[in-house]
Amino acid sequence: MTATSSSPTIHLRRDYQASPFLVDRIDLTFDIRDQSTRVHSRLLIKRNHHAIAQNDLVLHGAASLNLIQLDGEVWPTERYQINSTEETLTLFDVPESFILEIETEVFPEKNTSLMGLYASNGNLFTQCEPEGFRKITYYLDRPDVMAKFSTTLIADKTRYPVLLSNGNKVGQGISDKKRHWVKWVDPYRKPSYLFAVVAGKLAVVRDEYITRSGRKVALEIYVETHDVDKTQHALRSLKRAMKWDEDRFGLEYDLDTYMIVAVGDFNMGAMENKGLNIFNTKFVLARQDTATDFDFEGVESVIGHEYFHNWTGNRVTCRDWFQLSLKEGLTVFRDQEFTADLYSRAVKRIEDVRQLRTAQFPEDAGPTAHPIRPDSYIEMNNFYTMTVYEKGAEVVRMYQTLFGREGFRKGLELYFRRHDGQAVTCDDFRQAMADANQYDLTQFERWYDQAGTPEVAVEMFYSPSAHSVTLHIRQHCPATPGQTDKAPFLIPLTVALFDPNGKAYPLQMSEETEAQGDERVLILREREHSFTFINIDHLPIPSLLRDFSAPVKLHYHYSAEELAFLFAHDTDAFNRWEAGQILFRQTILQQLEHPSSNAALPAVIIEGVQRILHSDSLDPAFKALALTLPSEVELFEAVPGEVDPVALVQAREAVRAALARSLRHEWQAMYQRCQRPAFHHEDSGWRSLKNLCLAYLNAVDDPIAVELAQVQYQKADNMTDQAGALSALRDRQGAIRDHLYEDFAQRWQKEALVMDKWFALHAASLRPDTLNRTEALLQHPCFSLKNPNKARAVLGSFGRNLLHFHAADGSGYRFLAQKVLEIDQFNPQVASRLVSLFNRWTRLEPQRRQLMKQELTTIVQQAGLSRDVFEIVSKSLEAAH
Ligand code: TRP
Ligand code: ZN
Repeated sequence: MTATSSSPTIHLRRDYQASPFLVDRIDLTFDIRDQSTRVHSRLLIKRNHHAIAQNDLVLHGAASLNLIQLDGEVWPTERYQINSTEETLTLFDVPESFILEIETEVFPEKNTSLMGLYASNGNLFTQCEPEGFRKITYYLDRPDVMAKFSTTLIADKTRYPVLLSNGNKVGQGISDKKRHWVKWVDPYRKPSYLFAVVAGKLAVVRDEYITRSGRKVALEIYVETHDVDKTQHALRSLKRAMKWDEDRFGLEYDLDTYMIVAVGDFNMGAMENKGLNIFNTKFVLARQDTATDFDFEGVESVIGHEYFHNWTGNRVTCRDWFQLSLKEGLTVFRDQEFTADLYSRAVKRIEDVRQLRTAQFPEDAGPTAHPIRPDSYIEMNNFYTMTVYEKGAEVVRMYQTLFGREGFRKGLELYFRRHDGQAVTCDDFRQAMADANQYDLTQFERWYDQAGTPEVAVEMFYSPSAHSVTLHIRQHCPATPGQTDKAPFLIPLTVALFDPNGKAYPLQMSEETEAQGDERVLILREREHSFTFINIDHLPIPSLLRDFSAPVKLHYHYSAEELAFLFAHDTDAFNRWEAGQILFRQTILQQLEHPSSNAALPAVIIEGVQRILHSDSLDPAFKALALTLPSEVELFEAVPGEVDPVALVQAREAVRAALARSLRHEWQAMYQRCQRPAFHHEDSGWRSLKNLCLAYLNAVDDPIAVELAQVQYQKADNMTDQAGALSALRDRQGAIRDHLYEDFAQRWQKEALVMDKWFALHAASLRPDTLNRTEALLQHPCFSLKNPNKARAVLGSFGRNLLHFHAADGSGYRFLAQKVLEIDQFNPQVASRLVSLFNRWTRLEPQRRQLMKQELTTIVQQAGLSRDVFEIVSKSLEAAH
């Protein structure tokens, strides 16, 4: 389809060419004034003799240009050209090496995109990844150009007492009676995307960390003054992350200062700028009474994530943006392992897989499906995806599954030995893993080349006479846009076989002289395989894809009894959880097919749930996960054929209500058992199980349950319990519910992050008036569409609210489409994330499909649409062909 007159440039991975010029050093001066900032840049540029020679120097840039000087002389206008669509500046016939000076002027107060230099609540921040540096000055804004940076900041003393940039502070002083200056030097070469500046009025919380080689590192967290009392958890998390990376991977921090700055207006979670991380407040601030246990976990893992980037991302960076998963997949894997080592490995694994299935599987099955190393993009910001991050982490995890922890660590060490200080590719990482473990990983590249979630189908044949079991395994990957035929993947499939008493059989293949343990990793390379195990004296129950050993969809025809058995006995916690999920899913899909107003639950579910609840050995966090139904989005993907999302929500709610009714006394009893006399962070598992019980109790109309929620709300000394009570009442009608919601808003109106929870709950509610309420939220005094956290809390939650977003009359679609267009005018990144909620339209029943298509068509025809939204919507519409 052709949508706009000027079709945007498509960037291709195969077009990569080394930069014809390199920057040895860049000295920046930011002259910060009230309405604008002048940026003076002095570059030492030389030709790259490893690249194809070019006479002209092409810089990226999108700032207003005041001056160009080359080797001290003003560069005449006829010797350069600006292309504003391409955002380039071309200097004709430049010498072999030279000093280039450029002055630009930028307007942070007017910058609503939150890329480049922007203002938030009177302070100034930068965001440069991936291509934001070009909004500040003209430069070779690509990750394989690595330079030494110095930054001098000059600003009013009272308005901007704090002036920060990367590296070490080397000087500061007074420039006149109202203004001061600070100079920073970063001793490490880096690409422009890791550059950062912060200027403003911020309080600092300090601590220190002694590295294992005995160096002292100053730790500093910068926040607004009223948030100082919410920084302790972030500081503790940072120290834990530093220690963990030393212990697990032998990696130490390499500068004298580590700074973290929190900002309320931020497009994503956080950013790993060298020595100066900038964070969304959501991932820094946490205090018992304002943040839930889930928020605490989020802060710790994002703090870890950004810290771990210092090695995996900064010391070794990406050659080009197609390689993004090189740093993101690896760093997500590292932050997952960090959390797993600190708390419960099983719980973390389940949470991660749940997230992968809820958010990445749909992406991999939809119109924007792409490999973890994409082949093309229009707007790079659209490729900070669940696929690049979360599936990328699964791909990295498979190396560890193949080689063990030791082998993985050896591979990582070789990677650093070879590539420290370089900008490299995913192939370089794979090669280091292969060489360190002397293993041929050629076929493994397909995980980087092919999009789509592979499906693995297993059949089991038992021979009572031979006492042998054969697993027949086939793999297949569905077509994705632009990729119809997929080659087979290298898949590690971890399996075990249980006897009827729940004991795992020792696994011995026919050609082996003895058993090799009772769990093993089968390596699939072909489309079909057979593996035969001997000395199995009884028809076993197979446990397949244990610990989710590969990012695939597994198919095996389990009977309900076998699932019940695994739900009760599997020694792999992940698969134990998984068996329950399959049982729940089957029950919900049956209810969808044959709706009955009083859904009866199969006995295996009731008994399975009871067994989990009463188990003495399972921890409460695991119990809570095991008793949570699959998410609506997961179910949406599992529906065979066309989806009616409203019917799906109703089916899920019917099963939830049936569970609530049939086990009412159990939920009540467990709710009481979960109460603790005093608050301890370590009791988060108990709180999560308690709030799950409260939610089940309130899944049916029951005044006693409402009262329990009310009492919990009123007595709560922590946000988990307070928000848990509100969440349990989210879909209920009645004065108590309304009163508690009012009270909450009154109480927390000054706490932006807490108000976001309140906004999200309203927009996610199944109550009939949700669309009206959501529209009203946009007028709430605490709301601002310009703030990404707020926009996501209201509109993101609404778009995930299957009942109301998919209202049969199309009102939900129209509402969100209009808001997308409005937001696109000032923040394309946020708009593009929201418009992605339309991506699964071809899976819908015909009427809704038509309604969604209309909205997408309206959007794509809009004049002045951003590249970001255009790319997503045009791909979405193409998927229909
Ligand atoms: N690199 C960052 C991370 O994963 C995320 C990031 C990329 C980002 N682009 C961004 C954050 C733009 C904010 C805005 O940690
Ligand atoms: Zn990252």
